[in-house]
Amino acid sequence: MIPLEVKPTGNTEQFNLQQYLHQKKEKIEKALDASLPIGEPAKIYEAMRYSLLAGGKRLRPILCLATAELLGQTEEVAMPTAIALEMIHTMSLIHDDLPAMDNDDYRRGRLTNHKVYGEDIAILAGDGLLAYSFEYVAKNTTGVPPERVVKVLAILGEAVGAKGLVGGQVLDLEYEGKPDITAEMLTSIHRRKTGALLEACVSCGAVLAGAQPEDLQRLSGYAQNIGLAFQIVDDILDVTATSEELGKTAGKDVSAQKATYPRLWGVEVSRQKARELVDAAIQQLSFYGEKAIPLCAIAEYIVSRKN
Ligand code: IPE
Ligand code: IPE
Ligand code: MG
Ligand code: MG
Ligand code: MG
Repeated sequence: MIPLEVKPTGNTEQFNLQQYLHQKKEKIEKALDASLPIGEPAKIYEAMRYSLLAGGKRLRPILCLATAELLGQTEEVAMPTAIALEMIHTMSLIHDDLPAMDNDDYRRGRLTNHKVYGEDIAILAGDGLLAYSFEYVAKNTTGVPPERVVKVLAILGEAVGAKGLVGGQVLDLEYEGKPDITAEMLTSIHRRKTGALLEACVSCGAVLAGAQPEDLQRLSGYAQNIGLAFQIVDDILDVTATSEELGKTAGKDVSAQKATYPRLWGVEVSRQKARELVDAAIQQLSFYGEKAIPLCAIAEYIVSRKN
């Protein structure tokens, strides 16, 4: 257990991040399991469940719940959206690992979806999870005005579509093997392929809590900073961690000649950049004082994580 002191709030009381993450994760795991019973044909449901229930940090649903709670909303109201965010994220991982994309054999400590179920079913498992995420929010969110649910659906669609994750993934593939990429382009790719969904986690949590425009602005600033930091750290871990630690094949970015921060700037400068982004993210939340401790601690976790 790592007790964390979060400075900008001026709070000296210790916050136990490990315990916080553990408690949230347990509830999320239960809700994920319950969200997707086996139907017909069983094969597609099994493939969807294989990746959805394979563990993972569950950072996206945790961010959604933590943001809703910061603004006074309950965990129950935000849970269907949190679950949908993990479904979308899992879809992005299944598709990212396909031979036509990053061609990876391992994910979350086990064989990738297409290695077990075949490429055809893996593509469809991703499609199934994506479609179900929207259905799940629309059918299961209760206790808030319907306008908020419509807003959440719009945020999810925008984050995962061509403006966000899909567009970012297209550029990520396009820039493989091109060493002359600019820092601006690389930043834009990272913001879209990874940052957009992380920002959606925070925005959706805020919207469900009835956030004011000023709240949304502050929280988006926080989320954009941690979103970029998250992918920079993912790039660093690809060159510094082992496959066992990561649960996915290390060193893949170098062999695939991916455009990454370590490749552009080296590991040390990349670390500094991630640190600066996290400091800026925490600064955005100073307005909320002690209530923001969980989100500040999550930002710290993003740079200190080992997988
Ligand atoms: C991996 O995401 C893909 C990226 C966007 C870098 P995570 O590192 O959050 O993966 P899990 O969910 O913990 O497996
Ligand atoms: C992942 O980027 C982005 C998405 C899955 C949308 P990476 O390709 O670097 O993720 P990993 O390293 O395979 O998890
Ligand atoms: Mg990729
Ligand atoms: Mg990948
Ligand atoms: Mg990576």
